[in-house]
Amino acid sequence: MRTEQARPVRLADYRPPDWLVDTVDLDVSLDPARTRVKARLSLRPNPAAAAPAPVTLDGDELTPVSVAIDGTRLAPEDYLATADGLTIPQPPSGPFVLEIETELNPSANTKLMGLYRSSGNYCTQCEAEGFRRITYFPDRPDVMAVYTTRIEAAKDEAPVLLGNGNPVEAGDIPGTGRHYAVWHDPHPKPSYLFALVGGRLAARTASFTTMSGRTVALGVYVETGKEDRAAYALEALQRAMRWDEEVFGREYDLDVFNIVAVADFNMGAMENKGLNVFNDKYVLASTDTATDQDFAGIEAVIAHEYFHNWTGDRITCRDWFQLCLKEGLTVFRDQEFSSDMRSRPVKRIADVRVLRGHQFVEDAGPLAHPVRPEVYREINNFYTATVYEKGAEVVRMLKTLLGPEKFRAGMDLYFARNDGRAATIEDFVSCFADAGKVDLTQFMLWYAQAGTPEIAVTTTHDPHAKTLTLELAQMVPPTPGQPSKAPMAIPLALGLVGPDGDDLPLVLEGHGPVERGVIVLTKPAETFVFTGIAERPVPSLGRGFSAPVKIQADLSSDDLRFLAAHDSDPFNRWQAVQTLASSLLIDNVAAIRSAGNLHHDGGLVHALGTLLADQTLEPAFVAQVLSIPSEGDIARDLGREVDPEAIFLARRALRRAIGNELAPALAATRGRMRTGAPYGPDAASAGRRALANACLDLMAAPGGAEAIALAAAQYAEADNMTDRMAALSTLSLHPGDARENALADFLQRYEANPLVIDKWLALQAMIPEAGTLDRVRRLTEHSAFSLGNPNRVRALIGSFAQANHTQFNRADGAGYAFVADIVLELDGRNPQVAARMMTAFRSWRALEPARRAKARAAIERVGAAASLSRDLADIVQRSLGDA
Ligand code: TRP
Ligand code: ZN
Repeated sequence: MRTEQARPVRLADYRPPDWLVDTVDLDVSLDPARTRVKARLSLRPNPAAAAPAPVTLDGDELTPVSVAIDGTRLAPEDYLATADGLTIPQPPSGPFVLEIETELNPSANTKLMGLYRSSGNYCTQCEAEGFRRITYFPDRPDVMAVYTTRIEAAKDEAPVLLGNGNPVEAGDIPGTGRHYAVWHDPHPKPSYLFALVGGRLAARTASFTTMSGRTVALGVYVETGKEDRAAYALEALQRAMRWDEEVFGREYDLDVFNIVAVADFNMGAMENKGLNVFNDKYVLASTDTATDQDFAGIEAVIAHEYFHNWTGDRITCRDWFQLCLKEGLTVFRDQEFSSDMRSRPVKRIADVRVLRGHQFVEDAGPLAHPVRPEVYREINNFYTATVYEKGAEVVRMLKTLLGPEKFRAGMDLYFARNDGRAATIEDFVSCFADAGKVDLTQFMLWYAQAGTPEIAVTTTHDPHAKTLTLELAQMVPPTPGQPSKAPMAIPLALGLVGPDGDDLPLVLEGHGPVERGVIVLTKPAETFVFTGIAERPVPSLGRGFSAPVKIQADLSSDDLRFLAAHDSDPFNRWQAVQTLASSLLIDNVAAIRSAGNLHHDGGLVHALGTLLADQTLEPAFVAQVLSIPSEGDIARDLGREVDPEAIFLARRALRRAIGNELAPALAATRGRMRTGAPYGPDAASAGRRALANACLDLMAAPGGAEAIALAAAQYAEADNMTDRMAALSTLSLHPGDARENALADFLQRYEANPLVIDKWLALQAMIPEAGTLDRVRRLTEHSAFSLGNPNRVRALIGSFAQANHTQFNRADGAGYAFVADIVLELDGRNPQVAARMMTAFRSWRALEPARRAKARAAIERVGAAASLSRDLADIVQRSLGDA
């Protein structure tokens, strides 16, 4: 073995496939170690391609058995079949039928790509390039075929057999103990959407009547015995199906829609046509095992995968550079769905927290890349926050620029023009240009330029001229491969908040009223003059986070407190508090590093107290306000010379101050929120729990015995996982018996439920104390942990590396060394997950020099290992900046 030298794949090199595949007939005979796959492909030369070409099919770790053309078996000299490809140098000149037989060992498949086993069941994962691990194929999304799949298996091992599309036929194979099922999917699809499942599964079922009156049979399949925990997922699916009809006019198109939950899965879930396969974390939930956040996550992911049926399956991507065509758009759609099911402002705040916490961080480091990358060495490494979350922001900006009606018209045009096609970003954006009659040429830079734009704002009020002047300057920082940038088209939603707290009319000098309150920046620097402004207003900029940018405005603390109290835009009310807290925290980080005195901001605490007392506000919103910037937020705002220990101390001091000074109000609010009503996962009750638990956490922040006892009592008495977990999380920050007892109790209570034990692993990995690394090391030896299961790895290793800033970034470098060791061990088993863990190092250049050197050494050590997967080598090379 050696490190695989991946050649770069470039968008500019795209050319259409030489051969097309019209139909695929698969016959898969499942067996734990010797699964036989017979593929029958009807091939024809692509009229859009050049002269007659050889047939070259992709493969990955395949064992060929036989190859035949039009019923005649090929002689060995007529083809070349290796583990990673099949070439037929001189195929027939016209259409022909290619039959290929391969043999697979699903039990040995630890990469969880292609056909593998999870808890004894068979399942597949083909996105992005997993189909080539099942049979030889032109494994690229612009080759779309109609699939018929026959699945055969031992009846006792796999009583349930599922495929894409509609069920056609099923039966026993007499005398063998085996049976079969045939599935047919009439919709042409790329190979990455292929799936099959076989196993001992039980279903929760329901039916759905579509807008045109067709009946669809729905099934959520889980490991036998877990059916009760599938009810919420099934309901969420029904709500998502209705919503897509109502909001986007999109109807489902098969007779059945099945979801299967598996315990071993590299990502969240997969949108295979008619047969979505899920990480069971995004299916299984009950009051006793799932938190409110888990329920919300299930609702969002179920919707996301379902929405892919139109944005991904019926309209797919021409090539993997267009990944954001389906992912950014589908994230936008699932965000909108959750907003309609829950609280729109709270959902927006939560989404922006995720964007800033992951995408802004990615954009600021060596792994930065455009929403549509132009080159990749390993496509699995581009399922990123930039492609998904920033991709969704780009779609949202189109809506902000066009307004809701024209946006919907653009979407309708996109569906009408591209149904059944493998499309590009140009195909998508041109629909909005046409529907909105706007020029989106400059807007296309959002897909091409990496980096988070920064906007500096200067405001001047002229009481005599009654004008408010905004001077705006934009700058896009350099990113790998993109040293200089062009100015972007940035939609900026804004308001001018008058002294009475009401919005003033927005009238632009020389233009008139501002449509929908949105101005569009297009130049490096520009000036906007608003007229009829007698008294100095406070500008509220980037309302609803109208663009994925950083805004640096010349607002005073008084201005920010004013916005926190009065802004009609809830997002910017929340943002004002965050900005106030952030500037205090940054001051205090500097004070700690220079051994100076900590500052206190009575105004900030007072503003928090006012919002806490305001009973007209949604509890979930107040909970967001109380949650001050995270250590990651502060590190990002600093951007350089990051000292995680100083950040932790500054943040802890502020939380202690809030806990001390607002103690009575926090206790009162917590009491008010704890209604004693029976648990329901709905947004309103979840919001009350979020606020009650945010109060508890701040009450305990100073470490007083009374508050710790309160948390211990809540832990013991909770009648739902949200309250129990919140109490445990609060306890986890305070060393002592209460914490250790609760942790021991938790293990005992939930030992049998791996998804719940993940919470226990994650919480311990995040304890910000010097003893945590040893604790995490011990936990890697615990029987509840396994390097083979991605959920366990993410819970323990991922939480430590990505969410424990002080301990991953220990001054002695031991945190880096530990994660490097784990990554190297994991790489031989599951490269995709190893590469994902390695991205924890992505901010290493922003660290203070001593830590920076130790992080670099750890990355270099990984890079120097004898054999690295393509996935891991790519992350290491780009992290070190020599990609
Ligand atoms: N398309 C999936 C989604 O809904 C992403 C995904 C699931 C995936 N499993 C994967 C991507 C495995 C790569 C590899 O977002
Ligand atoms: Zn997706």
